Amino acid sequence: MSHTLADLDAVRTRILAEIDAADTLQGLDDIRVAGLGKKGEVSLMMRGLGKMSPDEKKVMGPALNGLKSDLNDAIETRKATLENAALDAALASETMDMSLPVGKPTGTLHPVSQVMEEMAVIFSDMGFSVAEGPDIEDDFHNFTALNFPPGHPARDMHDTFFLENGEKVLRTHTSPVQIRTMINQKPPIRIIAPGRTYRSDSDQTHTPMFHQVEGLVIDKGIHMGHLKGVLMDFVSAFFETDVDVQFRPHHFPFTEPSAEMDVRYERDGAAIKIGQGESWMEILGCGMVHPNVLRACGLDPDEYQGFAFGMGVDRLAMLKYGMPDLRDMFASDPRWLAHYGFNPLVQANLATGLS
Ligand code: PHE
Repeated sequence: MSHTLADLDAVRTRILAEIDAADTLQGLDDIRVAGLGKKGEVSLMMRGLGKMSPDEKKVMGPALNGLKSDLNDAIETRKATLENAALDAALASETMDMSLPVGKPTGTLHPVSQVMEEMAVIFSDMGFSVAEGPDIEDDFHNFTALNFPPGHPARDMHDTFFLENGEKVLRTHTSPVQIRTMINQKPPIRIIAPGRTYRSDSDQTHTPMFHQVEGLVIDKGIHMGHLKGVLMDFVSAFFETDVDVQFRPHHFPFTEPSAEMDVRYERDGAAIKIGQGESWMEILGCGMVHPNVLRACGLDPDEYQGFAFGMGVDRLAMLKYGMPDLRDMFASDPRWLAHYGFNPLVQANLATGLS
């Protein structure tokens, strides 16, 4: 059966009217399939082209293609109209009451995240900002610039994970962020750097990945008194009680003099009470930034001085919140997280309480 141009016009008029009348996306798609689908009316007419004479084809070919694209255009336009209408209807009918209280959140904030947040709040109150560095470090930032000469035995103390033929390491401490900060930023500098650190070590009190918070202050005329003041204020704010501290001489290659800071504590059964008793517990390392470290970062030690400190976040979290085993911190047991985790909607705040 062959068709005339008049037939095509009739088909066009009819289908266009159907498209205009379609009031659902499904209805519109049915019209598309009936007209342009594999076995659709227009597709079948296209198939009839094969049986036409060359002269007929010359007229009917372009006419059929024109019909097809007119219908396609009309369908797209109608589709957009229907979709917009559906969206408008949804916007008009679906409302959300932003004043409704949410239920108790099911997820909790991990104690490590909580404690890092608390530390950031305390130090930002003292004018520190938060800096970051990469977990994968190079030898220069993790060791050399921190005054660990190549081959120095202090490097062995760190049980380093080496990558890429020993050119890169998983940072063994957050101290490389000191180097990155001093190279990129002019003094005065006051930063803390929380983050993950790695050492090839695993037992009851060590995990191969753990967390530290580094601190660094660089300015003119900085001395050990500033270091002690900042850290004494910090522990009392952190444990939310007056905490006695003592500084014991120690050695780190990147500080001179160096010290470890202990807090007074007492065991009460399984519990540990910070701030009272006759025992001392080490909680951080600190010291005055070594002149060689300042020089490695392009600073003149005769002009600038500073202090640095580094502490283990996981251990401080355990001490403050009474978790007995370090390894549980990273076991991702939902029961442990539900018990020890924190409400993520409560912000640590110095005025209203840290947790
Ligand atoms: N980086 C040291 C460590 O991991 C801690 C430290 C930091 C000591 C800054 C002094 C100054 O043990």
